[in-house]
Amino acid sequence: MPSPDSGSSLGEEFNRWAEAGRGEGMEQDHLPIALPVLEKMRLAPTDNILDVGCGAGWLSRRLAKSVPEGRVVGMDISDEMIRHARRASVDFDNLMFVAGEVAQIPWQPNFFSHAISVESSYYWPDPAAGIKDIFRVLGDGGSAWILINYYRDNPHCHQWGSLLAVPTHLVSAEEWAEHFRSAGFTNVAHERIVDRSPSPEVYTGRWFRDAEQLAAFKSEGALLVYGIK
Ligand SMILES: C[S@@+](CC[C@H](N)C(=O)[O-])C[C@H]1O[C@@H](n2cnc3c(N)ncnc32)[C@H](O)[C@@H]1O
Repeated sequence: MPSPDSGSSLGEEFNRWAEAGRGEGMEQDHLPIALPVLEKMRLAPTDNILDVGCGAGWLSRRLAKSVPEGRVVGMDISDEMIRHARRASVDFDNLMFVAGEVAQIPWQPNFFSHAISVESSYYWPDPAAGIKDIFRVLGDGGSAWILINYYRDNPHCHQWGSLLAVPTHLVSAEEWAEHFRSAGFTNVAHERIVDRSPSPEVYTGRWFRDAEQLAAFKSEGALLVYGIK
């Protein structure tokens, strides 16, 4: 039996998200914060890119269009997310999806030009080990980009921890940056990516107290941490 916080129960929880269609639904929420990051990555057509915690693969597909002579690999611990991602990507010949855990990326060392991870890293059982393995699969000069909405410096997301069915890490920007430095990354930096998408006047979901808190959360912005191998 897997223990409650093992990788396997994490995969099972995200399999349930995938079956409920939540993988596809995340594009709308994450695109406004992911787009500025794609610009910062300055992709070249020949780049090879790893998308860690790719979910249903919307970002991997967008990346694959930007690197027509390179390759994109989407990886996720949830095999059901991977099934959804593959089903929606049959028209791509430079994109593949693999099931795996970030601390043991099923890929050769020194392969990727960039690695990106959107709204995934606070779920990783061992974030330091995950960042270390991302470092392993990047080539020299390659860059890693982690983008998250749930981090200690934004007080408007702290309630998520008790709403989520899996353990999470509520870590500060500086602590994430320290994981990057310990893994060997240089030029490590972090910044906020403000979500400028329109906010509803009334909020009826469960993640925020009300529309005002959602607006405050969005203007604090998502945390982007990056570094170079
Ligand atoms: C909130 S979803 C975000 C998915 C996608 N990046 C997006 O923006 O739509 C988090 C994803 O991270 C994956 N994930 C969580 N922990 C992981 C781990 N340790 N290794 C690989 N993937 C993981 C989950 O299965 C899930 O698909």
